[in-house]
Amino acid sequence: MGWSRKDLLGLRQLSAEEIKLVLDTAVPMKEIIGRKIKKTPTLRGRSMATLFYENSTRTRTSFELAAKFLSADTVGLSASSSSVMKGESLRDTGLTLDAMGVDVVVIRHPASGAAEFLAGCIPAAVINAGDGTHEHPTQALLDMFTIREKKGTLAGLKVAIVGDILHSRVARSNIWGLTKMGAEVRVTGPATLMPPDIEQMGARVYTDTDAALEGVDVVNVLRIQLERQQQGLFPSLREYSKLFGINQRRLELTAPDAIVIHPGPINRGVEIDAQVAYGSRSLITRQVTNGVAVRMAILYLLTGGETNAIPH
Ligand code: CP
Repeated sequence: MGWSRKDLLGLRQLSAEEIKLVLDTAVPMKEIIGRKIKKTPTLRGRSMATLFYENSTRTRTSFELAAKFLSADTVGLSASSSSVMKGESLRDTGLTLDAMGVDVVVIRHPASGAAEFLAGCIPAAVINAGDGTHEHPTQALLDMFTIREKKGTLAGLKVAIVGDILHSRVARSNIWGLTKMGAEVRVTGPATLMPPDIEQMGARVYTDTDAALEGVDVVNVLRIQLERQQQGLFPSLREYSKLFGINQRRLELTAPDAIVIHPGPINRGVEIDAQVAYGSRSLITRQVTNGVAVRMAILYLLTGGETNAIPH
């Protein structure tokens, strides 16, 4: 099958076949970034703008590198240094980029639904790089690529997602994606950070973190959002770490060959111990590399690349 969507807004809308197409397309892209000369002419003459209303290190940089490795022209816009600060609306900002001939706009925004709104305003392709607490589809795709690369499959795997599920767009996109690909998804974390409707998405809620980790193949540790600590949603970082933090003892509850992933940035010693984060089961650095490959695949597919014409 080929890619037929104008935009990538979330994994809720994608079929298992579409997810597989992105993951399969990322395989030869990863080969390109392993080369000494990381450059192909595939997207020469195409252009991508990143439009970020929130901070980012991994997502923004990897999109910029992905576009450059494929020879697309790139421009980066931060809300804080743009005419957004003069009151320009999201719609007008998008129309302005579109009028300059941009083919793809990658947007991160604090409001859930912002990417979908922008996609309806402009003919350029829109990629959701994280919208509020809604979705972060490219993170989940790179997580799934990393898991599949290590385990050979997604179907039948047991995956535990641990932490602040309520505010996590990463958790939502992972649940949509992993369940479609046939994995069993468990979620665990503070009861105050567990959305009431999460089981309707296909995940199983565990109130006991140790029970959730029993025999799993993958532990996906979420960043605890320190900015929410003042809201009284969990008592203290120390208590959070004790009850929900992934440490060596908890890792021993998982399958012997279980892997650990984390979207980053890490709060070392809070949601994950340094021993685990930098240990042999951690694929956190590999996730970052794979983020470039997966974003190359997405740019390629959204700009009309044919899967049989992937550069080798
Ligand atoms: N995982 C992730 O989205 O990281 P950044 O906020 O650094 O982009």
